[in-house]
Amino acid sequence: MVKILCKSSKTFLIVLVITLIWLHTYLSGILGTENSVDKSPRADDDKIPGAAPAVVDETGKNGNTGGGSEHGRLGTPAFINLPEPRPLSAEEIEEITKEMTFENEMQRIYNVEKFGPVNEGTYVLVIQVHSRVEYLSLLIESLSRVQNIENSLLVFSHDLYVPQLNEAIRNIDFTRVMQIFYPYSIQLHPTSFPGQSPDDCPRDISPEKAQQTKCRNADHPDVYGHYREARYTQTKHHWWWKANFVFGKIVTLRNYTGVVAFIEEDHYVAPDFLWVLDLMETLMVQNLCHGCNLLALGTYLKTWNIKVANSRGVVTNWISSKHNMGMAFNRTMWNEISRCAPTFCEYDDYNWDWSLLQVAYTCLHQPMTVFYAKAPRIFHIGDCGMHYKQKKCNPHTAAKAIDAGVKTHHALLFPDKLTVEVRHGKNMRLKKGNGGWGDIRDKQLCLSFSKDEKYQF
Ligand SMILES: *[C@@H]1O[C@H](CO)[C@@H](O)[C@H](O)[C@H]1NC(C)=O
Ligand SMILES: *[C@@H]1O[C@H](CO)[C@@H](O)[C@H](O)[C@H]1NC(C)=O
Repeated sequence: MVKILCKSSKTFLIVLVITLIWLHTYLSGILGTENSVDKSPRADDDKIPGAAPAVVDETGKNGNTGGGSEHGRLGTPAFINLPEPRPLSAEEIEEITKEMTFENEMQRIYNVEKFGPVNEGTYVLVIQVHSRVEYLSLLIESLSRVQNIENSLLVFSHDLYVPQLNEAIRNIDFTRVMQIFYPYSIQLHPTSFPGQSPDDCPRDISPEKAQQTKCRNADHPDVYGHYREARYTQTKHHWWWKANFVFGKIVTLRNYTGVVAFIEEDHYVAPDFLWVLDLMETLMVQNLCHGCNLLALGTYLKTWNIKVANSRGVVTNWISSKHNMGMAFNRTMWNEISRCAPTFCEYDDYNWDWSLLQVAYTCLHQPMTVFYAKAPRIFHIGDCGMHYKQKKCNPHTAAKAIDAGVKTHHALLFPDKLTVEVRHGKNMRLKKGNGGWGDIRDKQLCLSFSKDEKYQF
């Protein structure tokens, strides 16, 4: 059930002393998350809770301007020079829809001949992919350097179908790979729900005006009086669909009882990611984490203080904006969560993590209790959230800073064991949600994923 890693003692020279700070700089009110409860409505603040703090190389040296020179490592396909997704013709949409349905049913696992079939000891990592291919290529590079990665199954869940990207993913050769495709994407529904339809109410029209013009969803503004915008709803839909698919539809995982870790395309992992995941899961299964039911391999920090925290884990109440990175849970927990589908799907918040928090506060039988690694083994290098075009993003700089830190502190990675420290955090007062999810069609579509019904357009 729990994977046994073979520990070689030489890795465990635990050095100490002096806090070395190599990651710093943090934008975003996300860090002071305690007050994010009172987060202003979407109108004033489009930021996704949990969007990243920036990571800056403290040396200030930024040699790599992102030319992709680090690509092409063993097992890492080149993701550069992929074409921008373009609008598709009706024929292409039909073709891709067929292809995608086929792939979701086939559930091909690549590299099984090399690494053997998936079994109870396999690590399952699910990666939600949208369009940030440059980040994704860095994530994959970092995954290729994770110890024991050959003992995993990477499930890439896409909401864009890009043949060249698919090919690049299928060329990953350092572990097993599967691709699944979110079928209700905007790409495949460019002019109708779940995409934006011409007779939808514009976001900013007033509900009174909407009634007069009789635009389609006039009766369903969000809690702030705004109408849906397709591109803001897709991420939550995709997240929910993917979790349902992974636990409910993937045949190979039908009997799998281990945790599934959820990663996003702009994350970056440390080489002992699976090692630490394994330690945490072992503690959870042995009931040694004070009733934890969620694991998180990271949290947002100002500094990566591995010298004092390399082997420390913290148990606390789950807070969406702090513990949404590298989250892992098992089927037992999923069954609890999915029982709360109506809460998740009807809560007027377009963020999956805030919706999950609502589930935790208003529906679950036990609190959501997270056990997280105090020195993160996963980082958010996407310092510009998906809504932000204006900020300079250099994923390569962030990745290099992390690599440098990992190199310097290699002896501190792979701790023998994790300590478990309990911290009682304050629950956040949830008010009405961040909006963006008032449309009844969104609620129904979301619910259809749990009911295993085909959504009727
Ligand atoms: C799951 O377990 C059942 C009962 O042991 C077995 O019949 C079935 O083949 C297993 N399924 C998979 C996909 O391993
Ligand atoms: C699944 O997770 C729960 C916590 O949510 C834990 O108590 C249980 O032992 C885990 N089950 C398995 C089979 O690992």
